[in-house]
Amino acid sequence: MTHHEVEKYSAGARWFHWTITIAALVLAVTGLFLYVPWFSSVAEGGTTRVIHRIAAVIFVAAPLLFLLVKPGRSLHFVKEIFTWGKDDLAWLKAAPDYYFGGDEKKMPPQGDMNTGQKLWAVVAFFSALGFIFTGIFMWFLKDTLPAEVFDWMVIVHDLCFIVGGAMLLVHLYLGAIHPRMTESLKSMIKGKVSAEYAQSHHGKWYKEVVGRESAAKTAPGGQGQKPAH
Ligand code: HEM
Repeated sequence: MTHHEVEKYSAGARWFHWTITIAALVLAVTGLFLYVPWFSSVAEGGTTRVIHRIAAVIFVAAPLLFLLVKPGRSLHFVKEIFTWGKDDLAWLKAAPDYYFGGDEKKMPPQGDMNTGQKLWAVVAFFSALGFIFTGIFMWFLKDTLPAEVFDWMVIVHDLCFIVGGAMLLVHLYLGAIHPRMTESLKSMIKGKVSAEYAQSHHGKWYKEVVGRESAAKTAPGGQGQKPAH
């Protein structure tokens, strides 16, 4: 067995992921305090509201900063999550059996993100847009908006929380807890996965990595391995 490792997430992508995670968790907790009447005594005095807004600024600033520093990677990511094909349908059909212990060999080979990961990224993308759009109205235009428009903004904000939050729980479970995702969390902490894991979980991507590596070896001075994100 080789101990060869391949880079999956660059340091920048990992920083971005964990920054936005902390911001999202703070937003979720302070949001609940603002929303649930039961907790309203905690929200009194406005501290929760201020923390919610500081976290919201980080939630918006982090992707903008990443886009500014790594425009190519950012666009590649967006393009990738919206590109769906035959393999994705095959993955969706095969996934329930696989996640409940079925044969791994029945899974169609996947790119650096499998279909489930792409689905999560799409939901996260749209719920983030929904949060930001409605949040801006609620923060800056509270006194200008007609009351019923304001109420709609609150409802859409809450819907984004329900849909995004439910998928976040699935993401957390599959990324950090599910017994078959043995190197998933490691990849988002250290950036790398073993060649075996890359091959079994992201077969199409691993083929590309091997192709790039051998091209780099035969071309002295050529580029080495690049992370997927
Ligand atoms: C406690 C919270 C979280 C944990 C434990 C977690 C864990 C992970 C892990 C382990 C991966 C790597 C998956 C792999 O490549 O095998 C990942 C990827 C990713 N995470 Fe998270 N994450 C969390 C929160 C978030 C939040 C709040 C967002 C978005 C707002 C997010 C968006 C993503 C995206 C888009 C990816 C790449 C696609 C994917 O692998 O699903 N994550 N996360």
